[in-house]
Amino acid sequence: MPDPSPVFGREASSRPSRASLRTAVVWDVLKEALDRRVEATGKDSLGVLDTGGGSGNFAVPVARLGHRVTVVDPSPDALFALERRAAEAGVADLVTGVQGDIRGLFDVVGREEYDTVLCHGVLEYVDDPAEGVRNAAAALRPDGSLSLLAAGVGGAVLARALAGHFTEARHALDDPAGRWGAGDPVPRRFTAEQLTELAGEAGLEIGAVHGVRVFADLVPGALVDTEPGAAEALLKLEAAAAELPSFQAIATQLHLLGEKRA
Ligand SMILES: C[S@@+](CC[C@H](N)C(=O)[O-])C[C@H]1O[C@@H](n2cnc3c(N)ncnc32)[C@H](O)[C@@H]1O
Repeated sequence: MPDPSPVFGREASSRPSRASLRTAVVWDVLKEALDRRVEATGKDSLGVLDTGGGSGNFAVPVARLGHRVTVVDPSPDALFALERRAAEAGVADLVTGVQGDIRGLFDVVGREEYDTVLCHGVLEYVDDPAEGVRNAAAALRPDGSLSLLAAGVGGAVLARALAGHFTEARHALDDPAGRWGAGDPVPRRFTAEQLTELAGEAGLEIGAVHGVRVFADLVPGALVDTEPGAAEALLKLEAAAAELPSFQAIATQLHLLGEKRA
C-alpha cells in the first residue's frame, strides 16, 4: 500500500518531504506494529488511542490505513485542527477527538480497549511521566503495543553545542531534566535507558528502541533540498543509524515500542 500520509509521504518529485525525514523512522516502526497486530488479530480495522495526539500528525495517517483512532488531547485548538485535517483526508468517520489528558485518561476512555496506543511528544510535558506511561499501557488490550516517542537529552546537548551555545549544552548534559536553561521550551528530555525503565515499570516488554532525527535537524536544509539524491540518502542514513545505541545517544528524539504481554 502506498504511504497514506501527506505528512509522511513524498512530494510530487518523489523526493522525501522535510516532515517525512523527521518522522520516517517512527512511521516505519509504527506501521509494522499495526500490520503485525492486524495479522495476529485477523481484524482489518484496529482500535488505536493517540494520547496527546494534537492535530493528528500520526492519528490521521493511521486512520488512512483504515484503523479507528481516538485522540485524547487537552487542547481544544488542536482537536479543532484534528477534526479539519481528518475531514480533508476523508477519514472523519474513523477519527474521534476527545478533550482530556493522560493523567485522567480513564475519565474519558476505557481500560484495555485499544490494540495500539500512541504517546508521542507528551511525556516531556507531564508532571509525572511514569504515571503517563502506566496509563498509556493500561489502555492497551493484552498483546497490544505502545508507541512511545520523546525528546532525547543527547540530541539537545549536541544541537546546542553545534550552535555555539556551549554553556547551554553543558547545562543540558548535567541537568536531571535534560534542559539547556530557563528559556528551554521543553520541560523534560529522556535517555533511552530512562524510557526503557519507564516502559518496564509499566509492565511492558521492550520491543525496539530507535533514535529519531539523528542527523536531520543538524544538516543545513539547503543542502538536503538542492543536492540531487541528498534527501533520499539522508533518509537511508537515518534508518541505518536509528537502531544503533551510539547514535540513539545523540538523537533528537527516542522511539520505543513496548508490548503488553497477555
Ligand atoms: C509536541 S505535541 C505532539 C502532538 C502529536 N502527538 C504529534 O506527535 O504530533 C504535544 C501534545 O501533547 C498535548 N499534551 C500536553 N499535555 C498533555 C497531557 N497532560 N496529556 C495529554 N496530552 C497532553 C498537547 O496539547 C499537544 O497536542
